[in-house]
Amino acid sequence: MELNITCIPGDGIGPEIVAEAKKVLDAVAVKYGHTMNFTDVLMGGASIDAYGKPLTDETIETAKGADAVLMGSIGGDTTTSPWYKLPPNLRPEAGLLGIRKALNLFANLRPAVLYEELAEACPLKKEISAAGFDMLIMRELTGGLYFGERKTVEENGIRKAIDTLTYDENEIRRIAIKGFDIAMKRKKKVTSVDKANVLDSSRLWRSVVEEVAKDYPEVTLEHMLVDNCAMQLVKDPAQFDVILTENMFGDILSDEASMVTGSIGMLASASLNDSKFGLYEPSHGSAPDIAGKDIANPIATILSASMMLRYSFDLDKEADAIDNAVKQVLKEGYRTIDIMSEGCKQVGCKQMGDLLAQKIV
Ligand code: IPM
Ligand code: MG
Repeated sequence: MELNITCIPGDGIGPEIVAEAKKVLDAVAVKYGHTMNFTDVLMGGASIDAYGKPLTDETIETAKGADAVLMGSIGGDTTTSPWYKLPPNLRPEAGLLGIRKALNLFANLRPAVLYEELAEACPLKKEISAAGFDMLIMRELTGGLYFGERKTVEENGIRKAIDTLTYDENEIRRIAIKGFDIAMKRKKKVTSVDKANVLDSSRLWRSVVEEVAKDYPEVTLEHMLVDNCAMQLVKDPAQFDVILTENMFGDILSDEASMVTGSIGMLASASLNDSKFGLYEPSHGSAPDIAGKDIANPIATILSASMMLRYSFDLDKEADAIDNAVKQVLKEGYRTIDIMSEGCKQVGCKQMGDLLAQKIV
């Protein structure tokens, strides 16, 4: 199979971790007889430095013309980087929001898994983590507060800021369908998270999710208020399979869920549109403080590449090969510094990439 992949290395540790993901993908291509063509484009801070804006039409067009997009991370230190002196619509994050919208990537899948080998890193009490967990946050990504009308005005000398939270039933239905579809391939449970005791948008969310649930009689649906969900994630994470939620709640809960695994450097994500097209990126940020030191953990990006093979190309065998390589390398005791524990062997970003590529045999 010939795969055309647009790569957005981005900022901070982005270029280093994407290089390792390409290394592993190249190994997959050799082993399974595929051709992978990578085209690098700029986005975020790197694009600001080169073109004065975080996302160019050329980057959008190149991404649209590809079969899938593999991204590192974008953004810099918000207190020291000159990028954050620019108006909000010209900052690195605007590039990310812009490409999500331009490519219609409304479904964001963020798995949070407690790896047996890394159970030590889980910050929860042993009696809670012992149950293990494997959940997937299905976050709506192109609506809600992120894309509603916003403005800052001054009325009678008082500054006032307005952000608008809007969802229509079609936006809710299409993400709910994705959530139920994926639950069918997992443990068949959907926890729909909202704030229906306060927000109209949440009440609509709840009723549309219930309509969609009728087409999935095998899936158990429960509703949970977002504040309770934040609590349940640390109290009993094993109860969750698919968490289905809107944009802002998903942003917050997915950071919490990843922290609970204790290894944010391990968590992949996929952002999908209505077809098989997707943008794949690690759940973590650009970590500018450790950029260029060859100590970043490339595993989240490599697992994102695995998600790409699975979701955009239906190459399950190849994706399994990557996932198994990760498990194997962890079992052998290799760790980057973020997941290091006593008795293990510490390796850098490049060496971790090499080890994983070698396991694709
Ligand atoms: C994420 C990030 C982004 C978001 C930021 C960088 C705009 O936090 O992907 O979760 O809020 O969606
Ligand atoms: Mg976030």
